[in-house]
Amino acid sequence: MNYFQNPDTLDEVLSKTFKLLTEGVTNSKSVFHTPTVSLLDQYTIKNRTMVLREFSPNERMLRFHTDYRSSKIHQINVNPNASIHIYDPSEKIQIKLEGIAKLHYQDTVTHKAWEKSKEMSKACYSVPFPPGTEVDDPTLCDIEPKDLVLDDGYQNFAVLIFIFQHLEYLFLQASGHRRAKFSWKDEDLTSSWLAP
Ligand SMILES: Cc1cc2nc3c(=O)[nH]c(=O)nc-3n(C[C@H](O)[C@H](O)[C@H](O)COP(=O)(O)O)c2cc1C
Repeated sequence: MNYFQNPDTLDEVLSKTFKLLTEGVTNSKSVFHTPTVSLLDQYTIKNRTMVLREFSPNERMLRFHTDYRSSKIHQINVNPNASIHIYDPSEKIQIKLEGIAKLHYQDTVTHKAWEKSKEMSKACYSVPFPPGTEVDDPTLCDIEPKDLVLDDGYQNFAVLIFIFQHLEYLFLQASGHRRAKFSWKDEDLTSSWLAP
């Protein structure tokens, strides 16, 4: 299969999707680098862009970093069901993932992720205002890493681990759209083509 061709089999669909997710971790120009992560806030759906830090195909795991003071923390604690959406216009592929979000805070997972984070990323967590705080002057939130004790931000740092059970793929092209779904129950995979 040519990388840019439409996959012919369900196996090829899955390996192409996993390849795009893997590349999304390191390629900041890929739209797979910044998926949209959705959570429920009571009866309202809340979407946000997050940077993909790690993808593990074997565990079907995506890792994200976030601020422990942000509203998504409460949303996950109340309801860990989460979904992820990515549309890649260059590939004409939409990916939808459904799964469970798990939070890590001040444990070995956050410690390891913090140690590997760049200074600029660490600085975001030292801002004294929790994300979403109303401020009279937006420049108060400007950050200058040299003025900060970066490791102070660790107390606001959290890791979001998303494990998906459902993956849906949609490829649009004039000569024939392709849509497929994949579901895992424990390690058992079922998959099917769908009418687009
Ligand atoms: C390009 C881009 C990348 C972002 N990356 C992250 C991220 O990795 N983690 C994060 O918590 N928020 C990230 N954000 C900000 C979120 O989209 C969101 O505004 C913030 O986390 C507050 O969300 P919440 O109040 O829904 O929790 C990013 C925003 C943009 C535009």
